[in-house]
This record gives sequence, structure tokens and C-alpha cells, in this order.
Amino acid sequence: MKIAVNTGGGDAPGLNAVIRGIVLAAHRKGWEVYGIKYGYRGLIDTKQIVRLTPESVWDITNIGGTILGTAIKGDPFNFRVEKHDGGHILTDISDSIYSNFRALGFNALIAIGGDGSLRIAERFMKKGMPVIGVPKTIDNDIGSTEVTFGFDTAVNTATEAIDKLHTTARSHDRVMVVEVMGRFVGWIALHSGISGSADVILIPEIPFNIENVCNKIRQLTLLDKDYAIVVVAEGAKPVGGDFTVVEGGKAGGEVRLGGIGKKVSEEIRKRIGKETRDIVLGHLQRGGAPTTFDRLLSLRFGAAAVRFVEAGMFGMMAALQSGEIVPVPIEEAIGRMKSVQMDSDIIRTARSLGISFGD
Ligand code: F6P
Repeated sequence: MKIAVNTGGGDAPGLNAVIRGIVLAAHRKGWEVYGIKYGYRGLIDTKQIVRLTPESVWDITNIGGTILGTAIKGDPFNFRVEKHDGGHILTDISDSIYSNFRALGFNALIAIGGDGSLRIAERFMKKGMPVIGVPKTIDNDIGSTEVTFGFDTAVNTATEAIDKLHTTARSHDRVMVVEVMGRFVGWIALHSGISGSADVILIPEIPFNIENVCNKIRQLTLLDKDYAIVVVAEGAKPVGGDFTVVEGGKAGGEVRLGGIGKKVSEEIRKRIGKETRDIVLGHLQRGGAPTTFDRLLSLRFGAAAVRFVEAGMFGMMAALQSGEIVPVPIEEAIGRMKSVQMDSDIIRTARSLGISFGD
């Protein structure tokens, strides 16, 4: 057996641990593993294919990023080709990628990626490529799995940052507004905000009213708490308003979110006259060593993906459900974005703790 593995989309802590899980599990079966570098680029320019042996993955579990490199703008079904006049065209190069995959004698592709990359994997599956998916993203927005790897590390990074902001906020009687990642869902903001004792958490699933946010801060002052921590998901939006995007910015072919933290901070300052500061945690949340939870989850996903290949479960994705790694159809997982549910325990907990969502 010859297995190909690639990593696509934005990086997430744990990618290398998944690769290690795959390589070691496959090696024990006597299979060969090859890394396709930069998403699918290695199947266009085959010099970008590397043999992965146990020696090449011995000590990568704790290393962030991906040894294979990743690609955000490499969708083979809409491949961007630059023109001499400075413009570009989008073209479908999936047939040549598929025929290279076959010509190189691969028996399976394990695609590690977020919803965009898994969507591409699913399209290749429909072309006949035997594909297994592994769900990656710090945003935790992929359906059918309780959690994606990378999320726990991002939440830890954000929580540590929020912890540090408490002391400076308190010393200066300031309102500190922290913008965290998460795209169109509020998982990172919610988990880090609750764990980091935030006063207000703004998430895309609950459009906010800025006056309610200000009222919460005013109430704190009445209780002699003259500082406040406001955690804002990059996808948070006001009631009746839209997402705040970075001008001209694209993330994975979609709009790049960012800037809502600054807006919220300025509004609070104007409305209640308190000194505010805003901070964007940005890509810090994607970097660094994965937590123990993410390492273990990633190794389990990698080892399970190899078992799924052996069982011929193509079109399936490794998912965490009730503590076990199980196969679920990729199509089902990418079919629905996993957003925060209003009646969930985590939302109810936040409300019981007196955290305001600005609603
Ligand atoms: O999907 C992961 C993520 O980090 C999002 O939280 C964020 O919106 C986006 O990627 C940023 O993408 P880029 O690396 O292109 O700036």
C-alpha cells in the first residue's frame, strides 16, 4: 500500500501529530507514506512529494505548523493562474492531479483540513480518488465531530492572554477588548472568555446591542469593579448589522474577518467615557506547541485514518463522538457548520455566571 497525505487550509496546532500518527500506524502495516507538499501542489509538481518514514516523524508531535506546508489558495477545481497582464484566470486542474495520483500508484489520500479542504477532498472522492478526511481547525466549526484538533490549543492561548489582561485592566481601571479568531462561529471566544473570567463575550451566533454591553460595564462599576474584560469573536456582529471585514483581505477564498474589537472598544469609550484598549490576538492562536489534549486527539485521528484506509472506508472522516474516534461521511460533516447552540450548557453556564452576550 502506498498512502498520500496532505495538509490544506490555515495551519492548526496538531497537524504534525496527525502526520506522525499516520506514518507510524502505516509503517507497522508495512505501508509506505508520502507527503504531498503545500496542499495539492505536490501532485502538480511531483518534486514536491516527500517520502515520510518513522525517522522523519520521530519528534514532531509537539511542533506547531505542518512539516508538509499548506495552501490556502490552492483549490485545484478553481486554480488561480496569473496572467502576464497582471490579471488571473481560474481553471480546473483536478483531472491532471487525479491522473498524477493514479500514475504514482497511490492507493489512498488522507486529507487533513478544514471545511474548505475537506470539500475539495470530497470532490476528488467523487472523481474516484479513495479519500479519508481528518478534521482540522482552531475554529471548531466542522460538523459531526465534537471537536477538531487545534481548537484546544487556540483556546489555551487566548485564555492565557485574557488572564494577563486582567492585571493591567485592573491597574488602570480600563476596559480591555480582546478580539479572537473563529470565523463565523464563537467557540474560541466562548471557551476562552468563560475560562478567562470575561465580563462580556460577543459571538456571531448572538448579535449584540452595544448599549447592553455598556450597561453591563456600568453595572460592574456600581459593584466597585472599575475594569472590564470584553472578549469579541472576529465574526461578532451587532443586531441588524454585518460582519466586520479587512478591506481587500481574503482568508481561504472568503472574506477576511477582523476589526470588530476596535469598533466595540471605541463605542464603549464614547458611550460611557471609560478608557478602553483593544487587542487582536490574531495568528498567535494558530502557533506554538499543541496542548496535550490536541496532541492526543491528533495522534488518535491519524492512527484511526489508517484503520479506515485498511477497512476501505473511503469518503469517511475521523470524528470524535462520545470519547471514541469514529468514521462519519465527509459529505455530512461539511454539510453543516457547527455553531454554538443557544440552549447548550456552555451558553447557560455563561449566563449563570453573569456574563453578558450583549443581547
Ligand atoms: O480558519 C482558521 C482561521 O485562523 C480563522 O479563525 C481566521 O479567520 C482565518 O483562519 C485567518 O486566515 P489567514 O491565515 O488567511 O489570515
